[in-house]
Amino acid sequence: MRIDILSLFPDIIKNSLEHSIIKKALKKDLISINYHNIRDFSKNKQKKVDDYQYGGGSGMVLMIQPIYDCIKKLKGDRDYSYIIYLTPDGEKLTQKSSNKFSLSENIILICGHYKGIDQRIRQHLVTHEISIGDYVLSGGELAAAVFCDSIIRLIPGVLGDESSALTDSFQDNRLSEPVYTRPENYKGLKVPKILISGNNKEIERWRDKKSFERTKKHRPDLL
Ligand code: 6GU
Repeated sequence: MRIDILSLFPDIIKNSLEHSIIKKALKKDLISINYHNIRDFSKNKQKKVDDYQYGGGSGMVLMIQPIYDCIKKLKGDRDYSYIIYLTPDGEKLTQKSSNKFSLSENIILICGHYKGIDQRIRQHLVTHEISIGDYVLSGGELAAAVFCDSIIRLIPGVLGDESSALTDSFQDNRLSEPVYTRPENYKGLKVPKILISGNNKEIERWRDKKSFERTKKHRPDLL
């Protein structure tokens, strides 16, 4: 998978994605992430990328020209399955949509700032508008990092233990069960006996039950 990211602050995303599992996926060439600073595409003498909004109102808007030119250049080099604009007024990202996006060959992500980007980009170039939740961030960069992490870990070969992504929370509309590791007894705080019993069938039943209880408590809407 190839991901191209348009942003004014690519370092925010880069720094978030160069650790642990995603770093290994990059090293193994299972994915490539290419950063494009929107400012580099500005044809303005002062490299200006934003301007006041038509009709008045507070807040600057990212101009059409640099983003348009950058996307045009990328699309000239290859086809893209999705051109995604990250925005709090987009469709909410879910495990289901992450699964879908993880199957694509090439993706473009656009990170907005200030009041957002010129609507003409959204209308004519963007294929999907995605939000990562009902709260507002200062820019799309952290949302882009979240989006990338959530789809990259689903690509075969990225997670060491192949079954691990399948048992994630949400993968079957259930939250995950509690997990424990050594020691068995820490200052009197003990691991549930069932997990040490060796009875795999009973352990599976216990995990199911705990997963259900947690979902009922924290996310009854999923049931
Ligand atoms: Cl995608 N962008 C911004 N700026 N804020 C958000 C978001 C995205 N998703 C939730 N809040």
